[in-house]
Amino acid sequence: DKRFKILDATMKRHQYQQDALIEVLHKAQELFGYLENDLLYYIAHNLKLPPSRVYGVATFYHLFSLAPKGVHSCVVCTGTACYVKGAANLLATVEKCAKIHAGETTPDGKLSLLTARCLGACGIAPAVVFDGTVCGHQTPELVTEKIEGWLK
Ligand code: FES
Repeated sequence: DKRFKILDATMKRHQYQQDALIEVLHKAQELFGYLENDLLYYIAHNLKLPPSRVYGVATFYHLFSLAPKGVHSCVVCTGTACYVKGAANLLATVEKCAKIHAGETTPDGKLSLLTARCLGACGIAPAVVFDGTVCGHQTPELVTEKIEGWLK
């Protein structure tokens, strides 16, 4: 698989330095579309980092995706401002509606659900990003309508 060759070259260029982890993850996502477990282990092994650390970094940044992307994407902000305005309830609503957990994609590939730690839209909390558009003042009713519309 020549994608691994490119990834290897990226790591080599950074002399397998551990602080190049984010750049390496970026490259991996660019090449493979998302960061599956085996890929994270591969990177951890090559950079001599504990897999838990690589996994931690990959899940912390919402720009990294650990599952194949669905046709639609929904990112629920779980940062402090959104949290106090009911983000946990919004997330639970989407999870129930789509029958998936955060970080997953529905089996039919229609929807990927992700979370973020502050989208920089605290003034309109709670915020949810639907297909790249930040929507503020979300309620369980609003997110249900959106998700049901996508999944039908
Ligand atoms: Fe949600 Fe800032 S905490 S946008």
